[in-house]
Amino acid sequence: MPVPAPNLYPPFNTIRLSHVELGVTDLQRSRAFYVDTLGLQVTEEDASTIYLRAMEERGHHCIILKQTDKAGARYLGFKVYDEDNLDRAAAFFKARGLPVDWVDSPHITRAFRTRDPQGIPLEFYARMDRLPPIHQQYALYRGVKPLRIDHFNCFSPDVDAAVAFWNEIGFRVTEYTEDADTGRLWATWLHRKGGVHDIAFTNGAGPRLHHTAFWVPTPLNIIDLLDLMSTTGWLANIERGPGRHGISNAFFLYIRDPDGHRIELYCSDYQTVDPDHEPIRWDLKDPQRQTLWGSPAPRSWFEEGSLFAGTAPVQSTLAASPIIAP
Ligand SMILES: [Fe+2]
Repeated sequence: MPVPAPNLYPPFNTIRLSHVELGVTDLQRSRAFYVDTLGLQVTEEDASTIYLRAMEERGHHCIILKQTDKAGARYLGFKVYDEDNLDRAAAFFKARGLPVDWVDSPHITRAFRTRDPQGIPLEFYARMDRLPPIHQQYALYRGVKPLRIDHFNCFSPDVDAAVAFWNEIGFRVTEYTEDADTGRLWATWLHRKGGVHDIAFTNGAGPRLHHTAFWVPTPLNIIDLLDLMSTTGWLANIERGPGRHGISNAFFLYIRDPDGHRIELYCSDYQTVDPDHEPIRWDLKDPQRQTLWGSPAPRSWFEEGSLFAGTAPVQSTLAASPIIAP
């Protein structure tokens, strides 16, 4: 079996994924997409930056949109249990020879930026400003009614190596795709918070950000979003779906923001908190892996992703190819 045994006593305790900062080239166009169309809530904005949260979230932000000359993914944010765990996280990365830069991150008490061994820029913190709950202010619900950020998915040039590192820091594998010819991992889903994943890795030139996903209340909210996007000028931004994933069993839709950053709307995966939860294996050639109903994903879904700031992607070491729509 190619997946490592879970590390139930990692060097520091990560609670969950938390936020992402995206570089966007037209801030107001991005606002029309994330706020007016998807329904994320603005918590702060000025001429160059917009902070957003979803309806269930008490933390100040789950997405930061930053006006930049060139679009890209600037870093992925993760929340640890407390300040002591934050110091232990910093010590861990430092001991690995990875950068640890303490930064002034707005609305966060203490944060450091680092990179995983493949070069993904990361921010770790323990405490972000808390905001009053709005999940029962139903007058605010718009668009797809996004409830919370759910996961990141990244292209990785070596999924086996990525999983080895993230497993060491306590992320547990729930499902994985194996290339039967080589026995290597083609994709893997790992969690901290008790769902199918906080982060997933997919074989491909990388590292690059494949997508950021938001949990929505029901599949009907996704159907409503499709009706909205297809009649308000966003038809070309619909990329894949709707459908039901084989992996994760979630109902999904993939869309692209004005800069091509991919967003997934996602609901109804399952609970994974048991420490002895057994990972599920999928074969790369199983057509129900991508979509339970059998339809393959388009080529763009396997090839296009957002560049991470400061990291040049490298080609994958695994040439195996999935089933791709004609
Ligand atoms: Fe996803």
